[in-house]
Amino acid sequence: MRIAVGSDHAGFDLKAELAKHLVDAGHEVLDLGADSPDVPVDYPVFGLAVGRAVAEGRADRGVCVCGTGIGIGIAANKVDGVRAALVHDATTARLARQHNDANVVCLGGRTTGVLEATDAVDTFFSTEFEGGRHQRRLDLISDFESGRGQDPGPQRASGPGSTRRAPGSTASTSTTPTTAGAGPTGGP
Ligand code: RB5
Repeated sequence: MRIAVGSDHAGFDLKAELAKHLVDAGHEVLDLGADSPDVPVDYPVFGLAVGRAVAEGRADRGVCVCGTGIGIGIAANKVDGVRAALVHDATTARLARQHNDANVVCLGGRTTGVLEATDAVDTFFSTEFEGGRHQRRLDLISDFESGRGQDPGPQRASGPGSTRRAPGSTASTSTTPTTAGAGPTGGP
């Protein structure tokens, strides 16, 4: 697989570890920087670079690392077609693939250890998207991106969620899932 990797200074060390691990595992790695942990740089530059590489087909997938993985993931997600997921371990990495078909994995160099991060990345690159109901949800996002879709609005009881109104209010204020028992790893 061709994998674009990018980080800011805070993510540099973990990015370097992960890039080496991915090369050793037989992947082709496109390193888009940063080039040092000692020179402060701005994470959006690198998140956007990884996102563009994936969206433009120069890479199949991406790995983004900043201090927390949050900022660089926000930036990567601004590129149409990118589904960047912040993960902390193998479980969140697996679900990011199975349910979200994430094409960029984001990690925090200051929040996740090398072993957990390596495990998460290995899981991310070896797990398939489950499709089915998850595809319908991703289509809502890509329709919105391409301008074809309309805002789906709050879902009604006839759908998979129900809308509640605050007392005295005529506007919908929150959407509450109706499905009981939807745990973090297997619910609908
Ligand atoms: C840099 O200090 C830090 O803010 C950045 O790496 C990241 O954690 C932002 O989300």
